[in-house]
Amino acid sequence: MKQTKKEFIKELLAKLTLREKIGQMTQLNGRYFCETEAELTGPFEKLGISAKDLAMIGSVLYLSSAEEAIAVQSKHLEDDPNHIPMLIMMDVIHGYRTIFPIPLAMGASFDPDLMEQCSQMAAKEASASGVHVTFTPMVDYVRDARWGRVMETMGEDTLLNSRMGAAQVKGFQGDGYGRPGSLATCVKHFAAYGGAEAGRDYNMVEISERLLREYYLPAYKACLDAGAPMLMPSFNSMNGVPSTANSFLMNQVLRGEWGFDGVVISDYWAIKELISQGVAKDNREAALKAMKCGCDVEMASTYYLNELEKLVRDGVVSEAEIDRSVERILSLKWDCGLFEDPYQGASSEKEVECQLTKENRAIAETAAEKCAVLLKNDGVLPFSKQVKKIALIGPFAESRSIIGNWRANGKDEEAVSVADGVRNLLPGAEIAVVQGCSAELDQFDEGEFPAAIDAAKNADVVILCVGEQQDYSGEGKSRVDLKLPGVQEKLCEAVCAVNPNTAVLLFNGRPLVLTGLHKCAPAILEMWFPGTEGGNAAAKLLFGDANPCGVIPMSFPKSVGQCPIYYNHPSTGRPKKAGDDDVFQPFHSNYIDCGNLPLYPFGYGLSYSSFRYESMELDTHELTKDGQIKVTVKIANQSDRDGEKAVQLYFHDPVASSVRPVQSLLDFKKVLIPAGKTAKVEFTITEPQLRYYDADCSYHSDPGDFDLFVGYADHPELKDSFRLLD
Ligand code: BGC
Repeated sequence: MKQTKKEFIKELLAKLTLREKIGQMTQLNGRYFCETEAELTGPFEKLGISAKDLAMIGSVLYLSSAEEAIAVQSKHLEDDPNHIPMLIMMDVIHGYRTIFPIPLAMGASFDPDLMEQCSQMAAKEASASGVHVTFTPMVDYVRDARWGRVMETMGEDTLLNSRMGAAQVKGFQGDGYGRPGSLATCVKHFAAYGGAEAGRDYNMVEISERLLREYYLPAYKACLDAGAPMLMPSFNSMNGVPSTANSFLMNQVLRGEWGFDGVVISDYWAIKELISQGVAKDNREAALKAMKCGCDVEMASTYYLNELEKLVRDGVVSEAEIDRSVERILSLKWDCGLFEDPYQGASSEKEVECQLTKENRAIAETAAEKCAVLLKNDGVLPFSKQVKKIALIGPFAESRSIIGNWRANGKDEEAVSVADGVRNLLPGAEIAVVQGCSAELDQFDEGEFPAAIDAAKNADVVILCVGEQQDYSGEGKSRVDLKLPGVQEKLCEAVCAVNPNTAVLLFNGRPLVLTGLHKCAPAILEMWFPGTEGGNAAAKLLFGDANPCGVIPMSFPKSVGQCPIYYNHPSTGRPKKAGDDDVFQPFHSNYIDCGNLPLYPFGYGLSYSSFRYESMELDTHELTKDGQIKVTVKIANQSDRDGEKAVQLYFHDPVASSVRPVQSLLDFKKVLIPAGKTAKVEFTITEPQLRYYDADCSYHSDPGDFDLFVGYADHPELKDSFRLLD
């Protein structure tokens, strides 16, 4: 009879020496297995380990192809005394070879189904190259656009982040990882990494337990509930303790309250960094602290390999604790199917067959279209396809570096630039391309302005392609200024002044301060980093073959000084009175030199269709503790163009025992409304959706009245209210 998983693991564990067990608990960079000299961290001898140790390592981070994965795995299976396959892990975040829009852009789609579809495609591609686990979803809650890693999140709302993160898990894992075509997921970075003070990456986070539980924790939990078998603690310290060694987070919340029994892997060098963070005096203490907080795998450094044996010998760590971690790791290997097929169907033929296919490119194009947000349109868009002369101006006009920061095995040169996209769509048009200026932070050369202005004057329509370089957002890419780098805004002003038929396309990985651009540009389309098919999507959107339907997932401030800025801020005792947001009100909660509201609020986005909310009906205005209210929203598409709309329902609890946000997203649905038709969208409200964490961290709702509206942040279109009964 076939052995059960439990029997298999028990038997295998009994064969392993202590050092072999600790090998399972170590993950090293793929380069150690492919090259003798690793560019990043030096040869493996410098890690204080031997070639024999290398043979018993449990997992590898980053291998670049099926060929490499098969070669490394088969050599490992020969060398490892117990022939235990390695788990191959990688950051497959927004695509593997075919790159779809960055996560922040996917947040703008408000479309979890789309996220699931893209993740499924990425899993299929990565699995063909031999990857077993992806370090995604990243569901760090964010409020500060200065932090470069906002591009990896789905924005400033907990519900949106939770649903999108869960959709990623579903997409990557399919009906269950451990079969070719699917990957296991690892939720990260637990917890509150996005709260980095002043938006500076790796900086400390000081946060109340109330805030942590209400806004930051739910999305991690949603991804675990969706079936993610792994979790990664964050680099930052939270309330004085780095997450990797934070017993409250790791032991009390994760393993205790949530009962998580999957694999915890440290972030890259995070165990080693406990020393620079000043909570461990040496390697031994760093290893001990991480171990005592249930960290099963050490990524990139070798403190476990070099210290844990001694800690066991000294009786500080028990072998049973080591066994528990190894059991979890072996269990994941079993679930990933590695003991049946360590290669999981990876092959060079399969890579050719399933990567960067026409079908995958089509999904990526649709995704890029659905993530784009039309920020402004004075009526110039969509452009007519009959135009003869088109000027494409700006540093992103011909650039293929628009796929974003976590590009896995994606290549810029495989991407479609805006110029390529416009040529594909309108092969007969006369197209002039002028770069105009650079998108680099320290480049202020205006030498090409006259050429750009001439091209603009001679064109029927102008497409201005500006933004941030794709490596200006992502890990370690914090900024203090959120303006367009260099002289790009000046270029836009000069070009818009000579041709009113101008649309600006934006490429960026974070909310930017676009106050100046908003004043001068007749139309602005936010493309984010749209991925491999970005240029084709942009062309279709500009010329009306596609209809923009994305909405803002993270507030775009008017000034960087407003950061952190987010739509669901708590009520104050002196709120600003209705009126012009930019007019200062003395002794109210506002600024002398800037309004309170963002330039583009959460949930905002235009369309070529014109939608009108017709009615919002509640089947009852009284909610009992175990009852529900059915909300029916009717929304009409009054145009002659089919269009998609992110219908958003918000609520406000006006009297509670703690200060509540001025508005919170209660639910949302993305719907396609055919031209001239009306759609009916239904939401259900139940009592648990109204709960919050009180000052003493008790989780409850308050009976009484609640306000309700549909629209977007700070812009109610239809209002109603209901009462929660005792
Ligand atoms: C990042 C993680 C990532 C890991 C492995 C770290 O620097 O913080 O998000 O998963 O590297 O690449």
